[in-house]
Formats: sequence, C-alpha cells, structure tokens
Amino acid sequence: MSQFLAPALQDDEHELDYSLRPRRLDEFVGQERTKEQLSVALQAARSREEALDHVLLVGPPGLGKTSLAHIIREELGSGIRTIAGPSLERKGDLAAILTTLEARDVLFIDEIHRLNPAVEEVLYPALEDFRLDIIVGQGAAARTLTLDLPPFTLVGATTRTGLLTTPLRDRFGMTFRLGYYELAELAKIVLRAARILGVDIDPEAAGEIARRSRGTPRVANRILRRVRDVAEVRHEGSVSIPIAREALELLEIDEQGLERTDRELLGAIAWRFDGGPVGLSTLAVSLGEQPDTIEDVYEPYLLQLGFIQRTPRGRVLTRLGRVHVGAAPPAGASALF
Ligand SMILES: Nc1ncnc2c1ncn2[C@@H]1O[C@H](COP(=O)(O)OP(=O)(O)O)[C@@H](O)[C@H]1O
Ligand SMILES: [Mg+2]
Repeated sequence: MSQFLAPALQDDEHELDYSLRPRRLDEFVGQERTKEQLSVALQAARSREEALDHVLLVGPPGLGKTSLAHIIREELGSGIRTIAGPSLERKGDLAAILTTLEARDVLFIDEIHRLNPAVEEVLYPALEDFRLDIIVGQGAAARTLTLDLPPFTLVGATTRTGLLTTPLRDRFGMTFRLGYYELAELAKIVLRAARILGVDIDPEAAGEIARRSRGTPRVANRILRRVRDVAEVRHEGSVSIPIAREALELLEIDEQGLERTDRELLGAIAWRFDGGPVGLSTLAVSLGEQPDTIEDVYEPYLLQLGFIQRTPRGRVLTRLGRVHVGAAPPAGASALF
C-alpha cells in the first residue's frame, strides 16, 4: 500500500494507523459538526438507496481524513476503491478504476490536489453525470464513446482547498474541514489507542501526551507508542506521568509539542533570516525540506500557535516564536531591537 503514504509517513506507522483507525462514526472522536452533518447525509442516502453526494475532506495530515473515508464506506455498507492522486498517470488509469465501481461504492482519492490535469478532466463528467467519455481511434477517425457508470461517491482528501481547481471543487456536494483536536478529545484518543494496544496508562499521562501532540491524533498515537517502549524497556510497563515525560524528552518533544524540525524551522527564520520575512522556497532549501512539506506538515500548527506569520513578503517569526527559540530580546531591552 506504499503508494498511498504521505511522504513523511513510514510503513510501520501506516500499520499502526490501520489498527488504531476508528471504524464507525461513533468511534470517531471529536469533529462534532462534521460528524453530525455526515451522519444526516449518510442516513438520507441510505434510506433513499442512493449514492451519497461527493465528499471533500480538507485538513492537515493526521487529523482523520483517511479514517473518515473508510467510515463512510462502512456506514454505507458499500465497497471502496482507494487511490493516491499522483499515482494516476494517464486517463486510462482512472477509466479502468471507474469501470470497476459498483452502485453506491466509494472511490477514495487521497491527495486529490495532485491529480494530473488530463486525468482530472475525465473525472468531471463521471462526477456530474456518472458518465465516462472515452476517445477511440486517432486523427479523423477518432470518436467519443460514452459509457454509463453506476452512481458512486467520490471522497477526496486534500490538505488545503486552495490547491484544488475550481471545477473540481464545485463538483463536491459536501466539504468538511477538519481542525486540530481539543485536549480532552486527544486524551480520549490516547486512552482508546492504549486500550487497543494493551497499554496500561494513567489518565494524567494520557493528558500529558495529548498536550504534546500538536492537536493531531496521528501524533498522539505515535507518541503513545514511543512512551510504551520506554515504559516496557526501562520501567515496569505501565505508563505514569514521569514515564511519559521521560519518553517525551527522549523524543525531543518540547512543552508545546514541537519536535526538532519545528524548532529548526523557527531557528532558521530567527537567525539565518533575521526574523524574516523569508520566502517559502528559500526557507525550504535552507532546511533541506520540500516546500510542500513545510506548508502542509510544519507550518499549520506553528501558525496556530502564533509562532510564525505568513505575509505577502514571506514568513515572519512573531514575538511568541522568538521567545520559544530563545531569540527574544531580554525584557526592557526592546529599544535595541
Ligand atoms: N477522530 C479520531 N478519533 C480517533 N482516532 C483518530 C481520529 N482521527 C484520526 N485518528 C487516528 O489518527 C490516525 C491518522 O488518521 P488518518 O485518518 O490517517 O489521518 P489523515 O488521513 O487525515 O492523515 C488514524 O489511524 C487514527 O488512529
Ligand atoms: Mg490520509
């Protein structure tokens, strides 16, 4: 399944995601508005025996987009085909998949913003009229063959809606934006994962992991697994607050949940670029990262914390950000800066 992975996601983590993935809507913690709207739409589609409207899921990595796509299928009791947007190279690749769909199936396209434009065009009539236009022959002999498709539901996942072309965006009947999770929700997710993994954990320790997981369930589960390692190797196996803290220190995850790369990013703006503004691509080169990774993985949470700002001239470190990396002016010395 490696073609479905986000670049920063390792194989073992994918397996972990799989085993900890909530299966039904009521196991999916948080995102209450989304769940409510989705639940009504699902119920309506089921009772009318129609395909659910196409759904677009938007949000930073690890917030539950893939989980929701599978939950939709589960709740519809239908089949699912999963593909990664960039893996479809030719129109024929998509046509081949569309023709295998059965009525009310879910077609899940992850990273849908990375569809090849030619492939995307095949999708338009398929989404709107459940129709597939195929061109056969070449030159003067070329003609268009139209195939009827069964009504199906496209579930698309993307990190930012701005990355989608307008015609594609317009063809989704529902768009859900997943936001960062609240502490209590994350703690609940950690306790649920601990139960599944058979880890004995104090509720306070679960709270500590929640606080450091950047509002992101995938991060919370990843930390839990490392904490479990420390508990098993160095202690009796059950997880208390001191053990959680010991593991977090080992992982170099700080009080705000930032990891080394986050701090390097802040540090680069602070020292190499004098606090900014610095353009995204310049920043990316200096960190040896892809601009997309910075924009999708690291920046959203740093923006949320108010540590950086996006300005028309580039990224700027805020006062809070300077304080965090120890680049803030000492109290009372502001006139010097
Ligand atoms: N709302 C949630 N409730 C419980 N666990 C969740 C939730 N959202 C995400 N997770 C956990 O985080 C992991 C990553 O979620 P995933 O759906 O793969 O995110 P995305 O596709 O947005 O990157 C899942 O395998 C699951 O363990
Ligand atoms: Mg995903």
